[in-house]
Amino acid sequence: MPVAGGSVAGPMSRTPHLVSRLQGFGTTIFAEMSALASETGAVNLGQGFPDTDGPTEISEAAVAAIRAGHNQYPPGPGIPELRHAVAEHQRRFYRLDFDPQSEVLVTAGATEAITAALLALCEVGDEVVMFEPYYDSYGAATAMAGAQRVVVTLRPPDYGFDVDALAAAVSAKTRAILLNSPHNPTGKVFSAAELEAVARICIEHDLICITDEVYEHLVFEGEHIPIATLGGMAERTITISSAGKTFSFTGWKIGWACARPDLLGAVRTAKQFLTYVNGAPFQHAVALGLGLGDEVYRGLAADLRTKRDRLCAGLRSAGFEVYPPAGTYFVTTDIRPFGVEDGMAFCRELPYRCGVVAVPNVVFYDNLVEGRHLVRFAFCKRLDVLDDAVARLEKLST
Ligand SMILES: Cc1ncc(COP(=O)(O)O)c(C=O)c1O
Repeated sequence: MPVAGGSVAGPMSRTPHLVSRLQGFGTTIFAEMSALASETGAVNLGQGFPDTDGPTEISEAAVAAIRAGHNQYPPGPGIPELRHAVAEHQRRFYRLDFDPQSEVLVTAGATEAITAALLALCEVGDEVVMFEPYYDSYGAATAMAGAQRVVVTLRPPDYGFDVDALAAAVSAKTRAILLNSPHNPTGKVFSAAELEAVARICIEHDLICITDEVYEHLVFEGEHIPIATLGGMAERTITISSAGKTFSFTGWKIGWACARPDLLGAVRTAKQFLTYVNGAPFQHAVALGLGLGDEVYRGLAADLRTKRDRLCAGLRSAGFEVYPPAGTYFVTTDIRPFGVEDGMAFCRELPYRCGVVAVPNVVFYDNLVEGRHLVRFAFCKRLDVLDDAVARLEKLST
């Protein structure tokens, strides 16, 4: 059995009481590395959360919603204002049409939407094809659904994939392809041609596409194309996103899923027994946020682009091989220029060697050898924090 995605526990370490399908998902790497950061006082470029809040008008809207008494259970599918705002957002940015009543579901972050989709759609023993490296919750959610993950590897420098390998990963048991673009941890933004290849395979094998687009607005190169916009895909795609990354309010956990009524109805059934509802006042604030002008969206991306460029240049000068991301707020590096290959050991030592925390990409892989030498840094931090981290990392080559 491969190491569970995102987890530091290997197949040899068993967690007492835990069901077998969740063995190996013990403690996420983010918990270990954040604990190391606070223990050592290191600069934490491990976990992906911004160190500044998003637009004030959005946080003020949350405060106003609390003061206005929006503090009880909201409607199960989400407040109408937010469902309308999500539908309008999809129309405004992608010309995708969703009916706010029957085709938009508000969830507790994208994480719940992904989990609910897998629980709703997969029979025990079904297979879910996903690209590795993959975001840690995909492995755990697939396992909770009793399904099996089948991975197709994205390889640097451009993190392309072999279309034949994707086709070969599909079997009679495949239920869905789980896509993530813009992609964590690589920062890849899937091209139109790559999305068309995924779409072709979905259509040919009558698969559902679950697409995680939480970084949809954090794009610096190229263009984010929702796979639901491709011919034949609208009726078989569950498009998932959330407000956390776009607006820098990761702690609010307001997400959504959009799909045709039959697919969304299945997801809603599972979702209602996970959290039922969440974050009533934050739903009001996100409804307002989604309607803000293009300049707000552009400003958030421009700010991150500056940070990306600053950290990438710093990492390069510190001696890393850098794969600059086209989107998201993560950059992947290769540590082999330092004469080492084991990213896990490197990250565990890094806080003690120079006071910086990063994440070893190996935890996002089933094929460990593919990610062994790769290390991820988050750049959603203040510029002075990034500069401090770079100054510390410079010590690695002295
Ligand atoms: C690819 C990806 N999907 C989903 C999430 C989680 O989204 P949310 O906080 O909305 O549940 C993250 C957070 O890091 C992520 O990187």
